[in-house]
Amino acid sequence: MKETRDELVEIISRAEIEKRVRELARVINQEYRGQELILIGILKGAFMFMADLVRELTMPVKIDFVRLASYGSSMDSSGRITFSKDIELDIDGRHVLIVEDIVDTGYTLKYLKDVLSLKGPGSVKICCLIDKKERRKVDVAVDYVGFEVPRGFLVGYGLDYNEQYRNLPGVFHLNPSYEPKAYSPSER
Ligand code: IMP
Ligand code: MG
Repeated sequence: MKETRDELVEIISRAEIEKRVRELARVINQEYRGQELILIGILKGAFMFMADLVRELTMPVKIDFVRLASYGSSMDSSGRITFSKDIELDIDGRHVLIVEDIVDTGYTLKYLKDVLSLKGPGSVKICCLIDKKERRKVDVAVDYVGFEVPRGFLVGYGLDYNEQYRNLPGVFHLNPSYEPKAYSPSER
C-alpha cells in the first residue's frame, strides 16, 4: 500500500476558538443565571472544549462525563454507538448541558439526549463546538453552536483521527482532498 502523509489545513485558529468560547459562555451565563448547571461532556473529543468553556461560566457548576463513540477508526460514522461510561451525578430535576465537540449525523447526541431524559432532568440542552449541519441524518436540536462547518473531516482541539491530533490547539481539515463515501450526492 502506498504511504500517504496526512495533510492538515487550519480552518479555525486557537484565537478564534477562544473568542467564540467566551461568546458562547456569555449566552449560557445569561440563560442559567442563578441556577446550578450540570455539564456533561462526551469523552474523549469534548475534553478540551469542556475545560475552556467551564472556566468562563459564572453560575454554580458541576461536571460529569460520558464515554460514547460512534466512530471506529474510519472517517465515516458507523451509526452504531458504544456507551462505555455513564454519568455519576444525580441529574434528577437538574438543568443539564451536554457538551460535545462536533455533531455530524446527530446519532450520538440524539442517543445521549434520550438516555439522559430517562433520568428525569429538569432540562437538557446541547452545546457543541462544531456543527456539520449538512450531514445531519436525525433531527436533534443543538442549542449552542460554536462554528458551522459544511463538510470535511476535522481534527484538533480534542478531535481525533485514529486517536491522533487531539492536542492541536486549533481545528484542522484532515486531507481536504479526501471525500468520504457519505458525501456522494446520491446519498443526500
Ligand atoms: P454523529 O453521531 O455522527 O453526530 O458523530 C458525532 C461523533 O463523531 C463526534 O462525537 C465525534 O467524535 C465524531 N466525529 C464526527 N465528525 C468528526 C470529524 O470531522 N472529526 C473527528 N471526529 C468526528
Ligand atoms: Mg465526540
